[in-house]
Amino acid sequence: MRLYNPSFEIIVDKIQITNFDGVYEPAEDSWLMAKHLPDFQGSVLEIGSGSGIISLHLAQRGNLVTAVDINPKAVEATKFNSKENDLEIEVLEADLFSSVKNRKFGTIVCNPPYLPPADEYDDPELSLAVEGGPTGTEFTLKLLKEANDYLEDNGSIYMILSSRMKEFETDWNKEIVKQEKYFFERLNLVRFSR
Ligand SMILES: C[S@@+](CC[C@H](N)C(=O)[O-])C[C@H]1O[C@@H](n2cnc3c(N)ncnc32)[C@H](O)[C@@H]1O
Repeated sequence: MRLYNPSFEIIVDKIQITNFDGVYEPAEDSWLMAKHLPDFQGSVLEIGSGSGIISLHLAQRGNLVTAVDINPKAVEATKFNSKENDLEIEVLEADLFSSVKNRKFGTIVCNPPYLPPADEYDDPELSLAVEGGPTGTEFTLKLLKEANDYLEDNGSIYMILSSRMKEFETDWNKEIVKQEKYFFERLNLVRFSR
C-alpha cells in the first residue's frame, strides 16, 4: 500500500529517484556524497537514507548495502526507489543503530541532520532530516560515539559536515575527501578512521 504520492523524479547516473512527501529531497549534500564517495567495496550501512539516493549509488557500485532511517516514510521511499532501479538493498526502520545490533559493517555513511534548530522548519519530518541538535553537531557526535561497536577493524565512516555546525573535537582521525563551497555554507565530505 502506498500511503503518500510521489511528487517528482530525478535521474542521475542512470538512477531514478522518486521523491515523496515527508522525505528529504536530495540536495547539494546528497549529490556531494553520492558522487564523491571513494570506490570501496563491501558491506555498507547508511544511517538516514531518506529517498535512498546514496544507498542506491553504493549498491550500483557492487556494495552490500543496509539502509536505515527513523522516518517510516523514508524507509518506504528507499524501498520503492531500490525496487524501481532493480537494486537490492536491506532497508530497516531504526533510530541510528537500533536495528543492526551485534552486526558490523566495513563502511558506515551518513548525510546527517546538521543544522542548529530554526523556526523555519514547521514540518516535523523536515526538522528530523535537517536539525542536528542545539549546535548542529549533537547527532554527528552521537553517531561517531556509537559507531565504534558497528564498524569492522580498519573500517571507515563517511559523513557530510557543514560550516554551519559548531566546531567539534573527536578522537577519530579526520580527513576531508571533498569540499564544496556555496555562498551560504561550505560542505565537506569527511572520512573518519582509526
Ligand atoms: C539530511 S537527510 C539525508 C537523506 C539522504 N541520505 C540524502 O542524502 O538525501 C537525513 C536523514 O536522516 C534521518 N534521520 C534523522 N534522525 C535519525 C535517526 N536518529 N536515526 C536514523 N535516521 C535518522 C532523517 O529522517 C533523514 O531522512
